[in-house]
This record gives sequence, structure tokens and C-alpha cells, in this order.
Amino acid sequence: MAGVTVLAPPKLNLRLLVSAARGDGYHPLRSLMVALDGIADRVSVAPSAERSVACPGIDGPANLAWAALDALEREAGQALPPVAVRIEKVLPTQAGIGGGSSDAAAVLLAVDRMLGLHLGEDRLERAAAEVGSDVPFFIRGGAQWATGRGDVLEPASAPAFECVIVAPLVGLSTAAVYRAFDEMPPTPDDDGVPPPPGAAGLATWCRNDLWPAARSLVPELADLHGGLVSSGASPALLCGSGSAIAGLTATADAADALAGRIADFVPGVRVLRAGFPGA
Ligand code: C5P
Repeated sequence: MAGVTVLAPPKLNLRLLVSAARGDGYHPLRSLMVALDGIADRVSVAPSAERSVACPGIDGPANLAWAALDALEREAGQALPPVAVRIEKVLPTQAGIGGGSSDAAAVLLAVDRMLGLHLGEDRLERAAAEVGSDVPFFIRGGAQWATGRGDVLEPASAPAFECVIVAPLVGLSTAAVYRAFDEMPPTPDDDGVPPPPGAAGLATWCRNDLWPAARSLVPELADLHGGLVSSGASPALLCGSGSAIAGLTATADAADALAGRIADFVPGVRVLRAGFPGA
């Protein structure tokens, strides 16, 4: 049986509206999520005598890929042949761009293909939701409105844009950011304004309700955000629960110039170029 390799792209939440925690501790949200082009982890699966997950820094059962293999077995309703997973990391971790979730979804897609399970999108998404709130998004990709805890998806339209992702050395735990969110004043209601047709409209449309919470945990993020805006990002936006900040532009040239300025002027950050083709 031949192995399978798939790319695991990052996501950006163009809008992330968060409400007060529900009974199970999760926060209901309404988010426009898009899968970014240009950068991705590489996830390979191959038949093996025993299960293994090799990933720099997060090997073995601690990796969400391991949980993905367990969830796939439950969804398939049978023990599956052991698989060796290898993850080549490009995406920064604890950055809010869903790298670990995307790797887990890539494992589900790759093992389903390699073993010829043909589970279909609905069942793969159900297995994905057991692994984490963001994982079902990466089964679909494109642009999706996410509700519930982030696992209920509906296809969306969103304008094309280019962007620079700036990841500080300090990462943020999603759970810690939501705990800090609980200490903040309530967020404004959803204004219901639909996404703009072009990238220029994103400057005023994008919103991330976790921004005050992330900034309270890592105050330097405010300088990074300000630096991106003064270097031409429109808008600059916290990625998910952080700690990365995305600077959006309408053109690739503007994003390349922005990436160069940030890499020159802000030490100790990783600067990645990505984009969204529109949906
Ligand atoms: O679903 P996932 O395991 O990725 O979530 C990580 C943590 O983030 C949860 O344990 C919870 O504390 C928080 N979370 C939340 N509300 C959401 C999604 C995540 O409070 N909608």
C-alpha cells in the first residue's frame, strides 16, 4: 500500500464574534474562516508495523494527529491497520492559525484516502469535531461561516486578499485566552453586516473579540499590531486566539513590501507570506 502526502494549510478568522461561555465551558462563536494559500505543513502517512507520530517538538500521543487516528477508528467502527504519520512543520504553533488542527484534519483525509475508507465529508467532519473545535473547518477549507463552538459550518463568500502573518516567539494557549476573555466586559452584538465584496472593505469589517484578552496576556502584541498598521496593513488583525497577527493587503506587491518592512524592523518574530484567492 502506497503512502499519501497532503498539505495542511493555515486558517484566518476574518471575523471572530464570541459570546459568553455556555454550560460545557465552550464559547458560542460566529466566525468567517478562510483557508490560506502559500504556506502549509506537509503531512505524510504510510503503512507501518505500529502506530507512530513524528513531528518536531510534539511527537507521539501528545500530537493532535494521534487523537485524529483514534477518532477515525471510532468513526470507521473498526480497528484500522497501524499508520506512521510524519509532519514537516512550517506553520508556527500556538499562533492562532490552526496549524495543529490542520495537521489533524490532514491525517484524517490522508488515512481515509490511503486505506480506501471512503467515509465522506460528513463522517470525516464528525471525527474531526472530536479532535478539536477548528478541525472540521480543515476538512472543508475554502471560506466557511463557523458557529457552535466553531464546528458547525456553512459555505461563505469572502474577498481575495494577500497577507503577512507575524508570529512572536511567545505563543498563546487557546484555553488561557478564553479564560482571560471571561474577565473582559461583554462584546458588542453581531451587527450582521455581510462580508465586503473586495479586500478594501476588510479594513473596517474584520473583527476579533479575543483581541483584548490576548493583548492582556501579551501586552507587546499592541506594538506589533501598531507596527503592522503603520507599515501599510489594512487591517492588522489578531489570528484566532493568537499570538500571531495578520497584516492584510489588496495586492501581492503590497504584502511583499509589508513583509520586508516587518522583517527588517521587528526582531524576534517569524514573518510568513500567504493569501486567499477569494470564494
Ligand atoms: O476545541 P479545542 O480543544 O480546540 O479548544 C481548546 C480550548 O479552547 C477549550 O478547552 C476551551 O477552553 C477553549 N474554547 C472555548 N470556546 C470555543 C473553542 C475553544 O472556550 N468555541
